[in-house]
Amino acid sequence: MLHYINVTLPLVFFVVMEIIIGKLKNILAKHEGPIFTLKWNKNCGFLLSGSLDRTAIVWNTSTWDCSQQFDFHSAGTVDADWRNNVSFATCSTDNKVYVCRVGKKEPVKVFVGHQDEVNAVRWDPSGSLLASCSDDGTTKIWSLSQDKSLHDFKDHQQEVYTIRWSPTGLGTDNPNQQPILASASFDTTIKLWDVASGSLLYTLNRHRGAVYSLAFSPNGQFLASGSEDKYLHIWSLKEMKLIKTFNGDGSIFDICWNKEGDRIAACLSNNLCIIDFRM
Ligand SMILES: *[C@@H]1O[C@H](CO)[C@@H](O)[C@H](O)[C@H]1NC(C)=O
Ligand SMILES: *[C@@H]1O[C@H](CO)[C@@H](O)[C@H](O)[C@H]1NC(C)=O
Repeated sequence: MLHYINVTLPLVFFVVMEIIIGKLKNILAKHEGPIFTLKWNKNCGFLLSGSLDRTAIVWNTSTWDCSQQFDFHSAGTVDADWRNNVSFATCSTDNKVYVCRVGKKEPVKVFVGHQDEVNAVRWDPSGSLLASCSDDGTTKIWSLSQDKSLHDFKDHQQEVYTIRWSPTGLGTDNPNQQPILASASFDTTIKLWDVASGSLLYTLNRHRGAVYSLAFSPNGQFLASGSEDKYLHIWSLKEMKLIKTFNGDGSIFDICWNKEGDRIAACLSNNLCIIDFRM
């Protein structure tokens, strides 16, 4: 995947390849535990990695030096998301979320409220609200201007594994469509939230196993979901219905649309598959 790599095997260093000629460019070895998340910032000047060694590292992508190591969490850093070119959020199995800024030695903010491991964090497209989801079954919405969460969505029956904001609303290519947050849970459902009003819009319940992955199409009209049940579903958000289904040979752990919105890459237990999508 281009923007997101989920490493499940112990890997304490990672490699940077020059994609075009396929040459090994560098090995970045500073983490002391498996690396769980890897993200480029908006202008690609930094690469952020988060590890079970608790820390997050910002790498300078011109020199490949460690620009800064952030050591705030008391347990593994499992996900991270850039807010803009210089600040980002991290979440951890210590139940906390930190907002950090390159160049600052102290956290910009700490969000405390989850009662169990926090699995994912995502900024909304305008970078003003942060969503987090947890094994405590909740999805919370945070703003930098207050300590307490703005919303606390409790409708899932089990762990919430991942979340995605739709590419709609202010600051996106689809400003006239309503912004939506999608959450995927071990309870086999996906829930769509209207964050402005703090209400549940829909529950999508056709999967038969834990839902591990979500991806909105670039135009915001479709949502792809992947599950432990080995199915990849594509939902039309206009009609709120399931319009396409693909059966893979393993759990679907990550999904990514191409820029044009006519292809989907899915990462399965044992292989990677590319799906053509045309309406
Ligand atoms: C990366 O390091 C170089 C050399 O020290 C510096 O000029 C550049 O500004 C750094 N990049 C970022 C994004 O800070
Ligand atoms: C990020 O950096 C790019 C290029 O340096 C700049 O054009 C853009 O405005 C910056 N974005 C933000 C949100 O600061």
